[in-house]
Amino acid sequence: MAGFPELRLRRLRRMPALRGLVRETRLSAEQFVAPLFVRLGRGLREPIGSLPGVSRLSPDEAVAEAQRLHADGVGAVILFGIPDRKDEDGTEAWNEAGALQEAVRRLKRDVPDLAVMTDVCLDEYTSHGHCGIVKGGDVDNDATLPLLARTALSHAKAGADVVAPSDMMDGRVAAIRRELDRSGFGHVALLAYAAKAASAYYGPFREAADSAPKFGDRRSYQMDGANRREAMREIALDVEEGADAVMVKPALAYLDIIRDARERFDLPIAAYNVSGEYAMVKAAAQNGWIDERRIVLETLTSIVRAGADFILTYHAGDAARWLKEGG
Ligand code: PBG
Repeated sequence: MAGFPELRLRRLRRMPALRGLVRETRLSAEQFVAPLFVRLGRGLREPIGSLPGVSRLSPDEAVAEAQRLHADGVGAVILFGIPDRKDEDGTEAWNEAGALQEAVRRLKRDVPDLAVMTDVCLDEYTSHGHCGIVKGGDVDNDATLPLLARTALSHAKAGADVVAPSDMMDGRVAAIRRELDRSGFGHVALLAYAAKAASAYYGPFREAADSAPKFGDRRSYQMDGANRREAMREIALDVEEGADAVMVKPALAYLDIIRDARERFDLPIAAYNVSGEYAMVKAAAQNGWIDERRIVLETLTSIVRAGADFILTYHAGDAARWLKEGG
C-alpha cells in the first residue's frame, strides 16, 4: 500500500494553479440570493442596526441595489415586505399595492434578468408577530393556509419568479401550488422553507422586519433544531406537495441536515445563511478580530460543500465582488 514517503499530499498544494486544478468545491456569484427588505416610499435607505451594511429600501432603491447585484453576477434577490400597518390577520400581506408587490413589479421591469423570489409569510404583517392566524392563543394551521395562498398569488401577479413560503404551516405548499395553478401561474416556481428550525439565529432579522412575536415563540410551528430525521420528513412532505426546491435554515449550525438532504433528494437544495450568522461575522470583523473576506468565503464554501445548490445570504453582494477579484 502506498503511503509516506512515496505519497505526499502537499505536492498538489504547491502553487495556486495546482490548487485551482484540484479544488473540489467552487463558489460562484450566480449561486447567491440577496435578501432585500422593502417598504413604501421614495429614496429611502434605512440602515438596520443589527445588520451592518443592510438597509430597508423603498422600491426605487431596491431597483438600484438589484442593478448593482446583477452587475456583480448575483443570481437572485428575495424580497421581504415591511408594511406601514399591521393587523390581526396580516391583511397587508396580499395588498397588491404593498411595498413587496410594488418592488417586484419594478424589478421585473427594470432588471428582468435577475430572478426575483418573494418570502411568503404573515409575521411581518400581523400585529402579534406570528406566522399565521391566532385563535385561542395558538396559531391556527388550516385557517392560515388560504391567507398564505392569497399572499403568494399577489406576489405571482406582481411578477415573482419564485415564491418561498417560510411559515412552516402543514399543507401550505399544496395550498399555494393549487392556488397558483388554478389562477394561471403554473410557471411560477415554489421554494419551500422545508427544514426551518425555531432558531435564535433569526434575532437580527426580527429587528429588521419588526416581526418578533409579541407573545410566546415559534416552537409550535418551526422545527426543533435537535431533530435530524424529522427534517427529512419535512422535506419529503414538501416535495410530495409540489415544491420545486427545498431549503434548510439556518445554514451553518445545520450543515449535517444539508448533507442528509443532498444524499436523500434529487431536487435543488437551498440554504439560508441567516441574519444571526451574518451579524456575528460583521461584529467580529468590525472589532478587527477576524478577516471578514476570508471568513465569508470559507463559510459559503462550506455550505456548498455540504450540498447546497444555492445560498440565501446577506453577504451576496460583497462575496460576489470578492470572487470577481479572485477570492
Ligand atoms: C419569516 C422569516 C424569518 C426569516 C426568514 N423568513 C423570521 C422568522 O422565522 O422568525 C429569518 C431570516 C434571517 O434570520 O435572516 N418571514
